[in-house]
Amino acid sequence: MALLSVNVDHVATLRQARGIDEPDPVWAAVLAEKAGADGIIVHLREDRRHIQDRDLQVLRQVVKGRLNMELAATEEMVGIAAQVRPDRCTLVPEKRQELTTEGGLDVAGSLERIKDTVERLREADIEVSLFIDPASEQIKAAHNCKAQVVELHTGAYCDAREGKERRRLLSALEDSARLARRLGLTVAAGHGLNLRNIGPLLGFPEIVEYSIGHSIVSRALFVGFEQAVAEMLALVRGAATQRPSEAPQRRL
Ligand code: PXP
Repeated sequence: MALLSVNVDHVATLRQARGIDEPDPVWAAVLAEKAGADGIIVHLREDRRHIQDRDLQVLRQVVKGRLNMELAATEEMVGIAAQVRPDRCTLVPEKRQELTTEGGLDVAGSLERIKDTVERLREADIEVSLFIDPASEQIKAAHNCKAQVVELHTGAYCDAREGKERRRLLSALEDSARLARRLGLTVAAGHGLNLRNIGPLLGFPEIVEYSIGHSIVSRALFVGFEQAVAEMLALVRGAATQRPSEAPQRRL
């Protein structure tokens, strides 16, 4: 059975569009947990385009499950994390112009810097996850950095049209999940996942957690936050109970 953490950044995106105090991502977090979500995720970006420092602080007090803070590996963010003490920190790459987190963190290409950041966060008693592309060199580098978790970037798979390329990307996710697990890492997956494309991943028993934001917040506009979370949860809870070869939605 896999876990679901809900990213509430885009509730804050809507709030910031008006510059007032609603909708509140804290309210969304409460409803997500009420619907059964295992954790809440927020990305405190350097430009504060959606989540604000206040959100993180209030969420730290309110969230009952795991609070996962996504952050860039900068002095400022590591300082905030050490002070707020989320349960988990996920290091992500951050570029100001991007619409969302576009690629995985290049851990292999900046090993020393990431290793140092992981060490500082772990010293603050925070579990550390690295958001990486599904590539063996990145997984080995994550292991090298002593991260406890890797979150595999599913964006390319989610964006691909059905066919050969999509099957190749799915198989890269499967191989990566297996390698990470063999190295003793906890394996999460996220980015771009929705009710239609998550199916094939659910057959990979190595993936034990999913981080999902945009599709849940989008669907919540029409069916309500609790129902949107519950629908995704119903799928995720069925995960990893069967071997990949038996998974119902494997064929693309
Ligand atoms: N995981 C990470 C590391 C992310 O940066 C994001 C996007 O904020 C997500 C998961 C969630 O992606 P989505 O909003 O597409 O579900």
